[in-house]
Amino acid sequence: MPYMLRSARYLSHDVLKEAVQPGDTVIDATMGNGHDTLFLCRLVGEEGKVIAFDVQEKAVESTRQRLQEAGVLGRATLYHRGHEHMDEAGVQEVSAIVFNLGWLPGGDKSVTTLWETTRVALEKALTMLKQQGVLLLCAYPGHAEGDRERAEVMKFLASLPPQQYNVLHQRFLNAGPGAPENFIIQKQ
Ligand SMILES: C[S@@+](CC[C@H](N)C(=O)[O-])C[C@H]1O[C@@H](n2cnc3c(N)ncnc32)[C@H](O)[C@@H]1O
Repeated sequence: MPYMLRSARYLSHDVLKEAVQPGDTVIDATMGNGHDTLFLCRLVGEEGKVIAFDVQEKAVESTRQRLQEAGVLGRATLYHRGHEHMDEAGVQEVSAIVFNLGWLPGGDKSVTTLWETTRVALEKALTMLKQQGVLLLCAYPGHAEGDRERAEVMKFLASLPPQQYNVLHQRFLNAGPGAPENFIIQKQ
């Protein structure tokens, strides 16, 4: 198949394919409908572990069903809890952490990620990453909270010490102002 330069989400999946090995422990900080959780379950294989969070019961149920149908539910622990509590899952040396910000597609748009809790989760996530582990964050500007959150994410990530983290920002320049933006952070 020819290589296609597609959405921000596909770009982050390309990174995950390189960074995650069978047997790894990884975190999906925003499970939503479970697409990323399923992708991660396949990458970590039977010996690996996926920890996933969402504040909405609907998201947890939708993810549970998706993983069950794919036969990989046993690889995941699904928390109906905010990602700002991710340290309470008791895992360390995590090889990848994924944040897909915003609201549940097809769901209640008033339940969106908020910078105040995203910041706490990001700070914890960085301490839980192993050396060479990656944190992938997709931000969605184009609505009030999304714009604010993206601006704060930019400030926070740009201030990380370059001796400890590499931070990359990706955006399709000709896709309009509301286009999703990827941030890739690797711990040194
Ligand atoms: C864009 S969706 C995620 C899509 C998902 N990655 C997928 O593959 O389907 C964002 C999700 O973040 C959830 N969310 C909002 N605040 C949260 C928080 N503090 N902790 C965890 N999840 C949160 C929303 O409920 C929503 O389901």
